[in-house]
Amino acid sequence: MTTNATAIAHTNIALMKYWGKADSKLNLPTTSSLSLTLDEYYTKTTVEEGPEDKLYINELPQDSKRVHQFLNVLREEMGDFPPFTVISVNKVPLSAGLASSASSFAALTAAVAKFNNWDLSNEELSRLARRGSGSATRSFFPDFAIWEKGDSDKTSYAHHIDVPDLPIALVVCKIAGTVKKVSSSDGMVRAQTSPNYQAWVDESAKQLEEMKAALQEKDLEKVGQIAEANALAMHELNLTATDRRFTYFNQNTMKVLDAIKELRAQGYLAYATMDAGPNVKIITNQEQAPAIKEALAKRFRKIQFDIATPGPGISYE
Ligand code: PMV
Repeated sequence: MTTNATAIAHTNIALMKYWGKADSKLNLPTTSSLSLTLDEYYTKTTVEEGPEDKLYINELPQDSKRVHQFLNVLREEMGDFPPFTVISVNKVPLSAGLASSASSFAALTAAVAKFNNWDLSNEELSRLARRGSGSATRSFFPDFAIWEKGDSDKTSYAHHIDVPDLPIALVVCKIAGTVKKVSSSDGMVRAQTSPNYQAWVDESAKQLEEMKAALQEKDLEKVGQIAEANALAMHELNLTATDRRFTYFNQNTMKVLDAIKELRAQGYLAYATMDAGPNVKIITNQEQAPAIKEALAKRFRKIQFDIATPGPGISYE
């Protein structure tokens, strides 16, 4: 008899963002999004039968409410299973501004599926993981994935896209170690009150087609341009929200964004993307990443920089 099951999911960074819900109960997004899975950051999760649903991250007990709610969604969808102790080892540094909820909910979904012997494809697992965290849909797949927004519970899930041998790299700037002040869910609710919101959604659909073409053409410069435009326009929605406008930017964010422009003027391939926090991720190629990291580390002595490269899909132990 199975007593426990373990899965490992790597986190992903959206090059085309998910920033708004068409249905908040089902977590259906307003846009399709496209991501790169990262080798360096992952979550390993074990589920075992316990007296009640309970979560431990890096050995510390956590508020288990969100996990308990998600496990109940899985019970409703797939049939009942016992209460679980969920033991997660999280190798996504909170300070990196990468969504650890992506790898966490993907690993949890896969571990629960393995425990219960559910025979599901990664696309089907992705659909289930969506109910825990939207970005988790994309963490089942190696390298590049698209979360198709769909228009129902059944049609909204992610799949892999094949982009052979693209030497993409990210330079991750760890600007802030603090917990984010506006959760992604709350941020989305506010952003959707911006008068510019619909224009961002419409533009995103066009950008997604351009992005897919740029990936197939291995045009990293174009990939970076589109990703930067998409991310900065997302952050502009936060500033122009009519309900409690806000920003994730801080002064270091602005300084790093300026430095990226200067690096470009010097001939580097360097484009910015940002998520629900002040940290900047620089899209570049594997050849230039070390020089970009070094140039920025010299200029910003208090900020730490990491290089991240394309990573694998879901795996099991
Ligand atoms: O799935 P959530 O709630 O972690 O939201 C993710 C939102 C962004 O990271 C800002 C964008 C994205 O597509 O990952």
